[in-house]
Amino acid sequence: MSKLRAVLVGTGTYLPARVMTNDDLVKLVDTTDEWITARTGIKQRYIAADGEFTSDLAIKAANIALDDAGLKGSDIDLIVLATATPDQTFPATAVRVQTAIGMNHGAAFDLQAVCSGFIYAMATADNFIKAGQAKRVMVIGAETFSRILDWEDRTTCVLFGDGAGAMIFEAQIGEGTSEDKGILTTHLHSDGQYCDLLYVDGGPSSTQTVGHLRMNGKEVFRHAVKNIAEAINDSLTEAGLEAEDINWFVPHQANQRILDGTAKRLGIGNECIVSTVAQHGNTSAASVPLAFDVARKDGRIKDGQLVLMEAMGGGFTWGSALVRV
Ligand code: ACO
Repeated sequence: MSKLRAVLVGTGTYLPARVMTNDDLVKLVDTTDEWITARTGIKQRYIAADGEFTSDLAIKAANIALDDAGLKGSDIDLIVLATATPDQTFPATAVRVQTAIGMNHGAAFDLQAVCSGFIYAMATADNFIKAGQAKRVMVIGAETFSRILDWEDRTTCVLFGDGAGAMIFEAQIGEGTSEDKGILTTHLHSDGQYCDLLYVDGGPSSTQTVGHLRMNGKEVFRHAVKNIAEAINDSLTEAGLEAEDINWFVPHQANQRILDGTAKRLGIGNECIVSTVAQHGNTSAASVPLAFDVARKDGRIKDGQLVLMEAMGGGFTWGSALVRV
């Protein structure tokens, strides 16, 4: 039976010019390249310049995605921008992107699910398309986490970086089978009882400050492997597929040990997992589209393949999206 599908037609990413290596961090906090590498797999991260905002990164990624798709901003009718580090409390960073890409119709809004934001935004785009309320949706994950880090806290500041990634999805008619191109399934979860394990200690309503990221790393780690495995299983079960049917797993790039732990739990070979954690660090909502784009542009992810994306973040939030590209 024919079914509307959200088909990926373009991708784009942007990373700030400044690279901060582990050795650079040694000059700021009591840490070593060996500790960071062994515990996280991270070797470097990108940091936005002074005066370079989340919207600047998002606009660059969006324009590259438009070029990749052969589209103009006016061809897009919805922007869903996932970020936990907006330029301002309001207006939404998405409306800045809307204007900058020359889109003066439709709608643009921000979405907040921290590191799971891109998966939440993809699910939102998919549902707008399936409901017939949007024809082409720009999904963006963009973050400047460097602005909410406590640069004196070695337990958190070594983990995160800045960046942006965009994907454009277009409504196309499929057959309603897992052979269709496009987003095949999405699954979202949250559990607010864990909101104090990973949070920012400020906000407009509570402290009238932006605040800094705080985390109980050990507890986050413990929940991450379990929740990510659950999100992957949700997608596989609904699609009636096994892990070996998936060509590529594109996980949220939090920590190489979380990636390895999940792969081991599900029996997934490391050769099917896209890892950019060493180069990008954890870029929160930007990490999935950044990793996807690297593997697509270096030729690993090929047209027609099945890709399973997943993420877990503060809230806790977690989820997965199964896409035939
Ligand atoms: N450099 C050197 N030593 C450090 C550093 C550092 N950057 N940070 C902490 N340490 C020290 C600690 O002070 C502690 O010292 P002590 O034994 O003298 O007290 C020791 O290293 C061990 O600290 P732990 O916190 O127990 O280290 P752990 O093995 O748990 O690793 C880490 C910490 C990497 C944060 C880990 O818990 C983790 O990966 N958690 C997941 C968190 C994550 O990825 N969050 C991202 C956001 S959520 C998401 O995206 C899924």
